[in-house]
Amino acid sequence: MEKEKIYNRFLEKDKIAELGGGVNRVEKQHQAGKMTARERIEMLLDKGTFTELDKLMVHRCTNFGMDKNIIPGDGVVSGYGKIDGRLVFVYAYDFTVYGGTLSATNSRKIVKVQELALKNGAPVIALNDSGGARIQEGVESLTGYASIFYQNTMASGVIPQISAILGPCAGGACYSPALTDFIFMVKEKSHMFVTGPDVVKTVTHEEVSKEELGGAYTHSSKSGVTHFLSNSEEELLMGIRELLSFLPSNNMEDAPLSAATDDIRREEESLENVVPTDPNIPYDIKDIIEPVMDDHYFFEVMPHFARNAVIGFGRLGGKSVGVIANQPAYLAGVLDIDASDKIARFIRFCDCFNIPLVTFEDVPGFLPGCIQEHNGIIRHGAKIVYAYAEATVPKVTLITRKAYGGAYIVMASKQTGADVNLAYPNAEIAVMGAEGAVNILFRNADEEAKKQAIEDYKTNFANPYQAAELGYIDEIILPRQTRFKLIQALEMAHNKMQTNPPKKHGNMPL
Ligand code: HXC
Repeated sequence: MEKEKIYNRFLEKDKIAELGGGVNRVEKQHQAGKMTARERIEMLLDKGTFTELDKLMVHRCTNFGMDKNIIPGDGVVSGYGKIDGRLVFVYAYDFTVYGGTLSATNSRKIVKVQELALKNGAPVIALNDSGGARIQEGVESLTGYASIFYQNTMASGVIPQISAILGPCAGGACYSPALTDFIFMVKEKSHMFVTGPDVVKTVTHEEVSKEELGGAYTHSSKSGVTHFLSNSEEELLMGIRELLSFLPSNNMEDAPLSAATDDIRREEESLENVVPTDPNIPYDIKDIIEPVMDDHYFFEVMPHFARNAVIGFGRLGGKSVGVIANQPAYLAGVLDIDASDKIARFIRFCDCFNIPLVTFEDVPGFLPGCIQEHNGIIRHGAKIVYAYAEATVPKVTLITRKAYGGAYIVMASKQTGADVNLAYPNAEIAVMGAEGAVNILFRNADEEAKKQAIEDYKTNFANPYQAAELGYIDEIILPRQTRFKLIQALEMAHNKMQTNPPKKHGNMPL
């Protein structure tokens, strides 16, 4: 009997904790079209693998009558579980408890999970849905954020960190997701901004809806803050699971091998017709990437931002690779500020986590103009060189058509450290295009002479042969052989041993 009493005391507390902010608030959350913190975790993890930690921790605040409403677990559900059988740590803000706001207690729960993840070499997934700093706790709450940001920074490059935004994420709270590797947002339900519409109106007199200011579409297409845009919470959570399948659990491991069912020697006839013979006609670089990857599958990252560059994950011979490509179908694949940022950060992510880089290059150069220059294309473009040069993972580059000027250099050319450089026979590798070059070299020549010079230039320079003769291109390949040639190159470089000079850290142009 005594034992039953003891057990009941525990079961009662546990039940209250499970209910978070209570039945009514749970219902309100559902009415808003949102899942609860526990429902989200349940859907994200392999069935029955979640172990909750600190379920009974409570807040210590007595201001504003807070001591009258103490909910076991406070406003965060945290713990660990498995995704595809691999350990992950997770924490989810519970919007039904004080709007999921951050108390000192919540921050301690989160930091505990972050520390455990770092110590045990497993990814951390944060499910955000919060009104930000808990006003009643004042500086205690702000300090809590600082501790979380510090852990985010310490874990950067050691374990993958993934953030989902499933409701509000306002103020300084945005900086935890921003410090993580990938952000997922869901259409219409999630919003991120440092200052909300009301403050914006007061300070700048701009009238803007929260969706336009910081909705999923805005951050996936305009600001580049978020990497994935999902139609529903379920789609978002499945997206996180899929992303993790391409990643190792920490920086000391390789990404998991998938059982390769696709023939590594598979030749792809369709590739012979993708690149038009006329260099001015666009084509979709994904028509090359997809057929080359295992099972024709490419998992694109940031598909709506800086569409002149394409990044994402695929597998070659069962091994995870990071793909970087110029996109001739959008702005002719030119490099600009946004594309530079997108490419450079992705290269660095892959390098942190031992994921080889495969670059598909077709780039006419950097985008000219005052907007680009005044906003710093020099320092942004430099990030691409820096990221490629610094990366010690295997790096393979394939020039599918144009590789002109500075853009040729920065897109993983031989001397910036690529291991294998390939080109199609129609590749054009030169300082600039024929018309531009002739206008400089033959400025005063008549039209007929210029026409002839353009033809001569195309014959002599708009091809891969000068680069191949000098050893800057290792092999010229036929498009249909692409898949096997890339796999061969990656196999050759699989055990690559390269370390950069010892340093505290480099000073990347930011
Ligand atoms: C305490 C808060 C709160 C907060 C919301 N709540 N935000 N409690 N501190 N910051 C409470 C509400 O009072 C309410 O409690 C419950 O959470 C649910 O909120 P609602 O407003 O009813 O929900 P909804 O209409 O969906 O609106 C959600 C919201 C809104 C958009 C998040 O509540 C809001 O604008 N809150 C303020 C957001 C904000 O300015 N946060 C501070 C940002 S600055 P009851 O009991 O009435 O149901 C910041 C600094 C971080 O975070 C710095 C880090 C370095």
